[in-house]
Amino acid sequence: MSSHTQKPPVLTIDGPAGSGKGTISQRVATTLGWHILDSGALYRLVALAVLKKAIPLNKDSSEYEIYNIALKLDVLFVPLENNSVRIVLEGEDVTQAIRTEECGNIASQVATLKSVRTALLERQRGFLKLPGLVADGRDMGTVVFPDAKLKIFLTASAEIRGKRRLNQLKQQGINANLRGLIRDIEERDTRDMQRKDAPLVPADDAMIIDTDNLSIDDVVNLVLNAQKNS
Ligand code: CDP
Repeated sequence: MSSHTQKPPVLTIDGPAGSGKGTISQRVATTLGWHILDSGALYRLVALAVLKKAIPLNKDSSEYEIYNIALKLDVLFVPLENNSVRIVLEGEDVTQAIRTEECGNIASQVATLKSVRTALLERQRGFLKLPGLVADGRDMGTVVFPDAKLKIFLTASAEIRGKRRLNQLKQQGINANLRGLIRDIEERDTRDMQRKDAPLVPADDAMIIDTDNLSIDDVVNLVLNAQKNS
């Protein structure tokens, strides 16, 4: 490969649970015609496998087994028409199964394991293809794509994020309790922000958007304008 080969552009969108990363990333990727990496789905897939195999999380000896799951993850991301994806794990459609709060909680626990993060690193970088990539996660701008030209960090209060998550679950026909959701979100935020490896923090050069009083359209427009000017 010649040294003149240009790397495809990448736009990173990081932030805590319920900050709107998924929706915003999908909309921005559709408008730009770029690929999308939902890195949280990879951690959720590891979590689902851990749940299915009933691997105890509080035992040190489990780490190697979980690392192996992450390394060998047999997953397919099948693109659908509206830029959403069908996620197939070992031949089984798990698109919905990985979205439960239980999976999110276990995901944030396996995400504290350095070996798991390392196992998933190259797989995530493999998503970078022409014409470009929108990468959604917690450490996209800090660890996985530190050279990204535009890095976005979305924030919102736990209250608002809890309400958004409640609506999202309702749309999927899942009943949940707002207080419980907010408690789970705060617990997950603390774990994600305090872990040693790749904690949830904005990159030094990230553009921070507080989405509390912004609509989805507002945020999408802010991101697309920033992209145009980057
Ligand atoms: O959709 P939501 O923001 O609730 O979660 P997600 O993006 O699907 O991520 C689930 C969990 O995976 C997070 O709480 C993080 O602990 C972990 N994660 C991570 O550590 N690094 C990433 N790049 C993405 C997710």
